[in-house]
Amino acid sequence: MECDKPSILTAADRAGFAVPAFNYSDIWELLSIAEAAIEERAPVYIAANMRVAETIGLEYLGAMGRTAYDLSGGRIFNHLDHSSSVELCKRAVDCGYLSVMIDASMCPLEENIEKTSAVVAYAHRYGVAVEAEIGRILGRNAEGAYLGEDYLVCVADAVRLARETGVDSLAVGIGTAHGFYRQEPNVNLQRLREVNDAVSIPLVLHGGTGVPAETVRSCIRNGIAKVNVGTQLHAVYLEELRRQLGGGPACSVSDIMNPIKAAIRPVVKDWIHICGAENRY
Ligand code: 13P
Repeated sequence: MECDKPSILTAADRAGFAVPAFNYSDIWELLSIAEAAIEERAPVYIAANMRVAETIGLEYLGAMGRTAYDLSGGRIFNHLDHSSSVELCKRAVDCGYLSVMIDASMCPLEENIEKTSAVVAYAHRYGVAVEAEIGRILGRNAEGAYLGEDYLVCVADAVRLARETGVDSLAVGIGTAHGFYRQEPNVNLQRLREVNDAVSIPLVLHGGTGVPAETVRSCIRNGIAKVNVGTQLHAVYLEELRRQLGGGPACSVSDIMNPIKAAIRPVVKDWIHICGAENRY
């Protein structure tokens, strides 16, 4: 398969937009993302986390990812999200993934460097891009539960992780969290700017759901080249599912699932526009 995965984020970084990465849990979510990306002529990542990867299996996900890449003319990139396992990252590479994330941000820096280096050494042999994490992306509804600035990326650590591993992109802890926010997130743009000045590789914003569009755009102006969004899509999925199931006996699964697919698509398109990724590829 012809692909240019390590450079898509560098290209976005230089051109001043971000590539959105959408988490999906099944084929219906994946189809919503793929249809929106193709209609908007936008590069996007389709991202499965470890739980989805282990439930459905990397072989199926890898095959779907390759199909999405081919049918989209090379603008849909299959990505493994937040893998804490080096082995799972390697298996994803073997299954044809174009991009993998090794998340050892909860480990001491030396161990993070060690695990990230192991994935980079393997993935780069096959031209697969690697994302690592430094600082903490806060957990589901964790905002408010931490004290001080412990979650914030330390610039010196980011420099070491980038320099000593040769990783392609870095997810940085700057105050965003996975899941819905109880109050508007306090995104530390100053720290983002400092990291961006200190490392040359593209940076990644996690926890996109609930971050105001203007804040996302400010992040993109300051080095963010990939924006991860998941919860918002899943919430629309489940809300529409509940609505469909409440509407009387269904004739077929696709009668229920097609409206769900249609409901997710505009959310994906919105994010493509927030990231400025439309008509880019
Ligand atoms: P949200 O689910 O908060 O949008 O975050 C997604 C994400 O960062 C996946 O890595």
